Amino acid sequence: MGVRALGLPERLPTAAGLPERVTIWEVGPRDGLQNESSVVPVEVKLEFLDRLAMSGLTTVEATSFVRPEWVPQLADAETLLERLSPLDGVRYPVLVPNRRGLERALAAGVSDIAVFASATETFARRNLNSGLDEQFAMFEPVVTRARAEGLDVRGYVSMCFGDPWEGPVDPGQVVRVGRRLLDLGCTQLSLGDTVGVATAGSVEALLDAFTADGVDVGVLAVHFHDTYGQALANTLAALRRGVTTVDASAGGLGGCPYAESATGNLATEDLVWMLEGLGVRHGVDLDALVDASVWMAGQLGRPSPSRVVRALAG
Ligand code: HMG
Ligand code: MG
Repeated sequence: MGVRALGLPERLPTAAGLPERVTIWEVGPRDGLQNESSVVPVEVKLEFLDRLAMSGLTTVEATSFVRPEWVPQLADAETLLERLSPLDGVRYPVLVPNRRGLERALAAGVSDIAVFASATETFARRNLNSGLDEQFAMFEPVVTRARAEGLDVRGYVSMCFGDPWEGPVDPGQVVRVGRRLLDLGCTQLSLGDTVGVATAGSVEALLDAFTADGVDVGVLAVHFHDTYGQALANTLAALRRGVTTVDASAGGLGGCPYAESATGNLATEDLVWMLEGLGVRHGVDLDALVDASVWMAGQLGRPSPSRVVRALAG
């Protein structure tokens, strides 16, 4: 049964105070699958990527070129990209932490990469085996070379709102980390609520802190994990502040292997449902996306946590 038959209205005028269009940055194949207890076969990953692209998503984060011992779930990055049949008009960014990762990514022919910084010392050590300041020394040659090669470089900032080891994180600290990434040459910043503790007020406060520092909201993306059920409310707050790039994960897959309390990302289907209702364009066929997530849930052997997937999959 199509979603229209289930009561989602035909396209509405865009609600006041919201952007006309949002770019969904799909992270399921990377943020989702990096956190699975088992390694998903490369054939399954390839079909998942194809189904996501066919649903209308135009940015599908495919994998990571990190140290395979750290994230064995994504150790097949070369094979995956070699066998991927990219769909025209779709970008397939990959995560790259260091020079070695960039060499691997360039050899695989990627055109979009993302470095991933931490806003806190503890998480920098746990996730990157690096200090808060040292992480920039690791990223500097990566961003410089990638930009010289004509690549787009996203800079993630993790633990933007709270950190399980250090507690609440000061927005000023996040802005300092984000600013350093922009100064290195990153073309976009994705503000990560790695453990899902943000609420709408803290999202507004952080976005306002970036704006007060002179950062154009157009370069900011938001990346919410849904641990406390706040991801959609947080997204709406960010849209009202002018953010137009939203990260989400098909079926609500996700987490971070180096942040135990991280659960799944905002589910892409939940995001699409909300955007439809608000008249914000997104370009995704919700039925096709739900099919992809139901299929993936079957491969993983457990139901999707997404409310919209559960409602529509019947
Ligand atoms: P390290 O162990 O300190 O590595 O890891 P090293 O620099 O000391 O090198 C040791 C060996 O590893 C060397 O080999 C290197 O060549 C090799 P040897 O000389 O001993 O034979 N090596 C590599 N091999 C392949 N690819 C590489 C690579 N790098 C080194 N890229 C490192 C440091 C940064 C590599 C490690 O900590 C790492 O890979 N971390 C990644 C952890 C990760 O992927 N976390 C999840 C993604 S972040 C996230 O999920 C948050 C996000 O979603 C946003 C949010 O939610 O907030 C983005
Ligand atoms: Mg994440």
